[in-house]
Amino acid sequence: MADNLPEASRPWLELSSYYEQGRAKEDSLDRIVEWPAQRNLLGDVTGLSVLDVGCGNGGKLAELAGEGAASSVGVDISANFISPPPGVELVQGDLSELDSLPELTGRTFDRILFLQSFGYAQDPVRTLRAARDLLADDGFILLTRSHPIRFAVDRSEANGTSLGEEYFSTAPYTYSHSWNENIKLTKRPYTISDLLNEFSAAGLWIETTVEPQLSAEARRRYPHKQEWMNKHLGILIFKLRKSLAYGSLR
Ligand SMILES: C[S@@+](CC[C@H](N)C(=O)[O-])C[C@H]1O[C@@H](n2cnc3c(N)ncnc32)[C@H](O)[C@@H]1O
Repeated sequence: MADNLPEASRPWLELSSYYEQGRAKEDSLDRIVEWPAQRNLLGDVTGLSVLDVGCGNGGKLAELAGEGAASSVGVDISANFISPPPGVELVQGDLSELDSLPELTGRTFDRILFLQSFGYAQDPVRTLRAARDLLADDGFILLTRSHPIRFAVDRSEANGTSLGEEYFSTAPYTYSHSWNENIKLTKRPYTISDLLNEFSAAGLWIETTVEPQLSAEARRRYPHKQEWMNKHLGILIFKLRKSLAYGSLR
């Protein structure tokens, strides 16, 4: 797999353990804002099968299994996995090739998660269409992405340009994260309309969108995180369902 890794995903072979260390910190945004909001939107998972695409070490999926999720699969390119609990399978795979992963062939899932992983899809619409094909008719996809303003703010500071110029720029950009300053990630910029058009092109409609914020208690305990959110906005969470008209439009 290492030989044909997409370039943008390659840093994750090294970064994944640092990411998990960062995520486990008491004041990580994943812990205090993102996962609680994602979990809340997922609701009761008793008896439901979950596919977690770009699942990291599989910890979130293991938590869902502990709360009743059944026959679930996590896919991640880094393969830096925990040992999975019963009912959870963790598979090394590329989310750009979701439509040809043998472990997913012939299966459907009640919930499909893309938690901060969708940006690594080489062809985002192909990946979402593959997820749609794997989704039970009454299921939903929970997809989260950083707010595009988050990166535009950093780039406008670094380049001495305006927020609008950077928001609409199409040039790839490279940055390092506090998870490990020495490992660089390169990303394609995107706008809100890019994202919404990808959902439509894949035959999905948005049931709910959430822009999660710190609770009053978390604000008081972690003022430095509120400061970060005030500047970078945080993530967007989308609950997506199949458009029934899509088959006839395709
Ligand atoms: C920001 S982390 C999010 C991990 C996890 N979903 C969570 O919410 O904690 C992004 C994840 O995407 C994975 N990833 C990156 N490129 C990928 C690819 N092409 N296919 C599958 N997973 C990929 C990384 O290895 C990493 O685990």
